[in-house]
Amino acid sequence: MAAILAKEGHYLATMEAFQSSISLKAVEKMFDYVDEMAAHVMTNMFKSGRNAPPLFRVLGVGSGDGRIDLRILDVVLSAIGCSKIHATIIEPDVELMARFRSRVSPFPKTLEGKATFEWHEMILEKFMESSPQVQHFDLIHFVASLYYMDAEQALRNCYARLASGGAIFCTLVPEESFFPKLARKLKGKINLGSTNKFYTEVDLESISKRNNWNYKELKKCSTDVDITSCFDHSSTAGGLLLDFLTHCQDFRGTVDKMLCKEVMNFLEEQSFTDDSGRKLIKPERIAVVIYK
Ligand SMILES: C[S@@+](CC[C@H](N)C(=O)[O-])C[C@H]1O[C@@H](n2cnc3c(N)ncnc32)[C@H](O)[C@@H]1O
Repeated sequence: MAAILAKEGHYLATMEAFQSSISLKAVEKMFDYVDEMAAHVMTNMFKSGRNAPPLFRVLGVGSGDGRIDLRILDVVLSAIGCSKIHATIIEPDVELMARFRSRVSPFPKTLEGKATFEWHEMILEKFMESSPQVQHFDLIHFVASLYYMDAEQALRNCYARLASGGAIFCTLVPEESFFPKLARKLKGKINLGSTNKFYTEVDLESISKRNNWNYKELKKCSTDVDITSCFDHSSTAGGLLLDFLTHCQDFRGTVDKMLCKEVMNFLEEQSFTDDSGRKLIKPERIAVVIYK
């Protein structure tokens, strides 16, 4: 884990390079997708006539800067009627946690008087060790964060703390999509840094079967990402974006020439050129849910 923390600053820079390569419209589409999936999970949770508890507990794992979490909390609030929310946030990155905290100070109007927060600036594994008393959560979510841990262990720990009737909601990458394909190409050839594995719906289905969990796959969604800068060797943003896509630290500087060429060819194959001459890829995501 020390390796993760040592690379934190770099990781954040690569994530920002990725975010800057997505248009505002595409970001909005991605947020709407998470809202829609979370709303689906909430509706399903209360379908059988179950009422929301007076205090609905949410656990956000790897919440980043909180933009998506706050949207999920709005969705939860509209589904639980008069109940209130207690949100437990786990985020190991100091800077991202600070950004999340500043988003709720002052409190957004929609959450005012209806939500409370508890902050844990640490990895999930540490949180599980350090809070041994079993607290139950009604909704636990992993939005693009399961890749950084041992998914089965993380989900088993979370399932043990999931209230009966609750749900674990995750977004992942589909098996036959950009990131897993690239990861297969790089397997054993580069150090994937803090990324454990690009878990897909195939992995989650087998984990759920092994543990006898009620698992459902939801819709997929894709986002246009502008990777033009990756082909410009002098571009720092392009270097950081390549590091994000390959989950490698200093891909250009450390990877041997043959592999670098192979990856650039792969990016070329996966991309298409738009009317303005930009090279775009369309990485997909998929949402899955485990009900208890
Ligand atoms: C790709 S980002 C997703 C952030 C946020 N959920 C979003 O979608 O904007 C993954 C997040 O997981 C966090 N993370 C990495 N390892 C983790 C771990 N072991 N436990 C909890 N969070 C972790 C990272 O710091 C990062 O904020």
